[in-house]
Amino acid sequence: MKQLVKNISCLTGIEYKPKPRLQGKEMATFNTIDNAWLLIEDGRIAQFGSMADGMPHISDIDNTIDAEGGMVLPSWCDSHTHIVYAGSREREFVDKINGLSYEEIAKRGGGILNSADLLHNTSEDDLYRQAMTRLDEVIRKGTGCIEIKSGYGLNLEDELKMLRVIQRMKESSPAKIVSTFLGAHAVARGMSQDEYVELIINEMIPEVGRQRLADFVDVFCDRGFFTTKDTARILEAAATWGMRPKIHADELASSGGVEIGVKHNALSVDHLESMTVEEIDILRDSNTMPTLLPGTSFFLNMPYGKGRKMIDAGLGVAIASDYNPGSTPSGDMKFVVSLACIKMRLLPNEALNAATINGAFAMGESKNYGSIAKGKVANFFITTPLPSVYYIPYAYTTPIVNKVVLGGKVL
Ligand code: NIG
Ligand code: FE
Repeated sequence: MKQLVKNISCLTGIEYKPKPRLQGKEMATFNTIDNAWLLIEDGRIAQFGSMADGMPHISDIDNTIDAEGGMVLPSWCDSHTHIVYAGSREREFVDKINGLSYEEIAKRGGGILNSADLLHNTSEDDLYRQAMTRLDEVIRKGTGCIEIKSGYGLNLEDELKMLRVIQRMKESSPAKIVSTFLGAHAVARGMSQDEYVELIINEMIPEVGRQRLADFVDVFCDRGFFTTKDTARILEAAATWGMRPKIHADELASSGGVEIGVKHNALSVDHLESMTVEEIDILRDSNTMPTLLPGTSFFLNMPYGKGRKMIDAGLGVAIASDYNPGSTPSGDMKFVVSLACIKMRLLPNEALNAATINGAFAMGESKNYGSIAKGKVANFFITTPLPSVYYIPYAYTTPIVNKVVLGGKVL
């Protein structure tokens, strides 16, 4: 099937020679074509160009998508979320306003353990319905490729329940979804840390592996949660089932997670709010994408990751939402892009690349997603008419999405 997108004021995020990721100075280039057209063939991007050069004759076009003078952006690639959860935690939000820290709330049995209790008492169908509502919301905001983690189960049955929900979402949603097993999110109630780590290694990972329910593995490697020793053991066990790491590191303190992640060929190390300058050197020449979550810093009033320093040091950087009930109940990637510009001093082009092509890399999906390039899946959104690309992070609460196209289908 052939579809033509016409009346595009500006086609953006173009890659002529697609790269798996962009690093350092490369991140400042976000290629565009003004007054453009785009051809989709069988759900993939086939051709594009400028109207000024004249439209080539294309026969047998099945339908036309009118961009109505809006821009076309590649769909957001949100490489770190926890959108499968039950209920919400606005009471802790008030506790935080009253002065309790994220760690203090966790120590009192709130936080992740609170979500685990809620999830335990929620049926699989209800959990699916709640998660799909969140997914549909972020799709309407422009997300087309998304990672979703388990980690509110904390026992074998409930972790499997979460992963089955993600599996069902993969099968029913037009968005591309990848799944991550995060059994090591917090120590389950009534268990010692060592007992729980043994349970993850000896029971959870083999079952998740056997049932092929996760693409990746994650560990919350941080002060008060899992140690670097626990992390290394869990990553080694998961590697035998082909699950590559994407880990939580350096959120609450410089935890050694970056080093462990790079050593185990992690696809990404995420959070990094407390990362030291020395750790930038560890990431150089690695295959690991540092992934920053500015929405979390915003919501928890914490320091922001050193995005500017990392890019200036030649690294590639991804940004993601971390959408979860405790530390950032929002999957609004446009706001994440604004925060990266305002709080981390990324240029708009750098932030847009961080939220698209580099996010796709952090999910192992940049071959098919993350930019407007020949052969990639036709996942993009069409904006309302906008004055320029810079307007996107600048107008930080203005909705911009007019139409969403995933796999060539207008939603
Ligand atoms: O990425 N840091 C660990 N996990 C989540 C928060 C989970 C929660 O509070 O429910 C995060 O911020
Ligand atoms: Fe997270």
